Amino acid sequence: SDDELHARIRAAKETLGNKLVILGHFYQRDEVIQHADFVGDSFQLANAALTMPDAEAIVFCGVHFMAETADILARPEQHVILPNLAAGCSMADMADEDTVEACWEELMDIYGSEPDADGKQPVIPVTYMNSSAALKAFCGRNGGIVCTSSNASTVLEWAFERGQRVLFFPDQHLGRNTAKAMGITMDQMPMWNPRKPLGGHTEEVLLDAKVLLWHGFCSVHKRFTVGQIKKAREEFPGVKIIVHPEAPMPVVDAADASGSTDAIRKFVEASQPGDTIAIGTEVNMVNRLAAEYPDRTIFCLDPVVCPCSTMYRIHPGYLAWTLDGLVEGEIRNEIIVDGDTATYAKVALERMLSALP
Ligand code: 13P
Ligand code: SF4
Repeated sequence: SDDELHARIRAAKETLGNKLVILGHFYQRDEVIQHADFVGDSFQLANAALTMPDAEAIVFCGVHFMAETADILARPEQHVILPNLAAGCSMADMADEDTVEACWEELMDIYGSEPDADGKQPVIPVTYMNSSAALKAFCGRNGGIVCTSSNASTVLEWAFERGQRVLFFPDQHLGRNTAKAMGITMDQMPMWNPRKPLGGHTEEVLLDAKVLLWHGFCSVHKRFTVGQIKKAREEFPGVKIIVHPEAPMPVVDAADASGSTDAIRKFVEASQPGDTIAIGTEVNMVNRLAAEYPDRTIFCLDPVVCPCSTMYRIHPGYLAWTLDGLVEGEIRNEIIVDGDTATYAKVALERMLSALP
């Protein structure tokens, strides 16, 4: 039964003490979050993994790319565990190493590989945290950097100090929303189509480009629409609307604010009793905020429930199973990023950390 599962998890935590740390992303279901030692956005959880010197096991209740990042940043003797190995991220899967490498080669043919008179590289690759370790390593090897939704504009500024343009992957929406807020125009941010020569563009377009967008997207956040925002404003005059920057640009433009999952939490924290807040992000997080602030009206913009189906694959049953293993001295579902990939991915992650104020 559920009660037995939760009791097993609590007992294992008690036995393992500070040798174990459980991290939970905001999108995890409540039955998992109740056991997490740290809850946060993807950037905060990557940092949390760094600051746990006693933990021998980091159990990551999130998705695969997050556990990979924790393993890259963790000390070599720490074990990172993903309770269900099928918890991937469909957006991260939209940029594979071979396709990005092929694009890069085409770009090098057009732009060359030498810096200009100001010492700026022709292209800086920037990958969103929601990508495989292999792509983070690609960025590490090619003068590039990682960003999260909480620091994308700071990272793009870092990139433009060093390069004439940026190749941004996998999320077209985060790339477009961030570039637009920096004053880059739509014709300066063409989307690369890997099935067409030159990504489907003329050389002139590519030479004028400031940000080359990959075609990836999040299936949860692409569901939000301007129509939903209009409806919320009609039904609840004075409603405050915040969406995640993985939502399409017209949705971000129509909202009052956009930000990472932690920025969304802070937005709610800063609101007043009696306020009505509509949120464009994963529903488990929205429902939890609604329960935490019963004196406000908080709801998800999408009336059809929209959980992240892969985050949802972390069930308390898998958590209990991995913790039972640890108690018995068996590491189950360990995520290990191989040496070379980890080394270069860490270069790109450390560039991100050093770019931040
Ligand atoms: P955050 O970086 O805002 O936590 O988002 C991660 C994510 O997967 C959003 O879909
Ligand atoms: Fe990936 Fe979207 Fe789920 Fe985030 S919400 S983990 S981007 S599929």
